[in-house]
Amino acid sequence: MKTYKIALLPGDGIGPEITRVTQNILVALANNHGISFKFDEKDFGGSAIESTGSPLPEDTLKACKDSDAVLLAAIGNPKFDSLPRDKRPETGLLKLREELGLFANIRPVKICDALIQSSSLKEEFIKGVDLVVVRELTGGIYFGKPKGKITLEDGRERAFNTMSYSSHEIDRIAKIAFELAAKRRNKVCSVDKANVLDVSQLWRERIINTVNEYPNIELSHQYVDNAAMQLVRNPNQFDVILTSNLFGDILSDEAAMLTGSIGMLPSASLSSSGPGVFEPVHGSAPDIAGKNLANPIAMILSAAMMLKISLNEIIASENLENAVYEVLQKGFRTVDLISEKSNKKVGCKEIGDEILKVIEGL
Ligand code: IPM
Ligand code: MN
Repeated sequence: MKTYKIALLPGDGIGPEITRVTQNILVALANNHGISFKFDEKDFGGSAIESTGSPLPEDTLKACKDSDAVLLAAIGNPKFDSLPRDKRPETGLLKLREELGLFANIRPVKICDALIQSSSLKEEFIKGVDLVVVRELTGGIYFGKPKGKITLEDGRERAFNTMSYSSHEIDRIAKIAFELAAKRRNKVCSVDKANVLDVSQLWRERIINTVNEYPNIELSHQYVDNAAMQLVRNPNQFDVILTSNLFGDILSDEAAMLTGSIGMLPSASLSSSGPGVFEPVHGSAPDIAGKNLANPIAMILSAAMMLKISLNEIIASENLENAVYEVLQKGFRTVDLISEKSNKKVGCKEIGDEILKVIEGL
């Protein structure tokens, strides 16, 4: 029997409750697919700051490096906002991405018919949406140097970050997007701000250069302001959206809302070799933590991505995804997904139990 080592990072806020639900489902899934999981659970983010003083303790990083894949829930809490940057939960996440070389962030946005009523957009615009945001994750303004804060001679303060990309960083993320599109509908829209930014000019030049190796790909370009508008005007025009770190952060939250709730969106962060990190796109939602109100589906679908991409357990992954959609089809909804037409309002644990029942019946 194949055993996979999973570094499990529940993190903060709603993290622990969605983790428990996801873990139970994975155990049941393993039981009827002839595999097993060895979970190595570690503190990360705010919980790690509280237990060790650091958002990414050595021991947590080691467990991640030694794993077949990392499954992460969510981190962050406003109570850490006043701490110096190196003591904040988000810094732990950025360090994890850097340490594992997770340059490619894949964020699929697929509208499920059962949830069409939950979206704040009209059905006719969002029906059939099936797109993927490919976000560069270890470069751009998140990591560019110089950065910092200085006091000027006149006593005023100035803070700055640098948006920079090397051709190597652009080429490798472009390849990821083109290869993904080749397995889908062969369309890539690269999003930049090349009308203003030098870094975007290089981005665009390199993308145009790299696409030569992919003759079947239909490549288009949009400026990020236009792309933000197009995403809500006509999201069906997109197949793969390829973009940089900051633009991808913003556009993927926007795209998430097409599905009705950010509580639905999974993601994968991948390197050229070594373990990937699988996590929901949403945050730790401290305001609803511990109240059994959270939607665990984004984390469950992240686990499905982990099964498919990192563990190559394609059937288990498909069965898990189908179980989620079946439960939604039956009308079960966490509070973030409630619409007038749906009637089975349930909590985090209960929607997990419904998914578990489907899995156990496989
Ligand atoms: C995300 C998050 C992170 C980011 C934060 C928590 C550092 O918003 O994964 O989208 O900005 O990348
Ligand atoms: Mn984000």
